[in-house]
Amino acid sequence: MNFDSFKKTDLVKNITVLIDKNIPLVANLANISRLLEESFSNVLWSGFYLTDEVGKVLYLGPFQGPLACTTIPFGKGVCGLSALNKKTYVVPNVHEFSGHIACSSLSNSEIVVPIIKNNNVVGVIDIDSKKFNNFNEEDQKILEEVALIISSLF
Ligand code: SME
Repeated sequence: MNFDSFKKTDLVKNITVLIDKNIPLVANLANISRLLEESFSNVLWSGFYLTDEVGKVLYLGPFQGPLACTTIPFGKGVCGLSALNKKTYVVPNVHEFSGHIACSSLSNSEIVVPIIKNNNVVGVIDIDSKKFNNFNEEDQKILEEVALIISSLF
């Protein structure tokens, strides 16, 4: 797979090229997790948590990075709050975020964006960084557009 650029400003364009609606969801999410890693600077972990409808729980999905927590109830940690409240969280310092779930002690900042389909959260995009304050409003805007594209795969 050849892309001219892995710049984050090209992410939406690149994802549109990358995804294939004729293959299983997990195959698309696996490649997207890598594309996210390539497209942002200082990424420690990038990937997905996916909703289990019955339990209102997020389970670990495709990702790049260190081993991670497998189960996050709605409302817990940054991912669980994003899923519960259907909103993006940009966290400049995870150590100051009450309830943050530390999967890796190396993580210092993160962004979590809900993936919403028919008004239900089907999963979240989670990107963690070793660097404090690694994500900003521009990243939020890009990733919310990405989440909208990904929602069409569910
Ligand atoms: N930091 C997240 C947990 C997921 S890992 O960082 C991969 C949270 O508090 O939701």
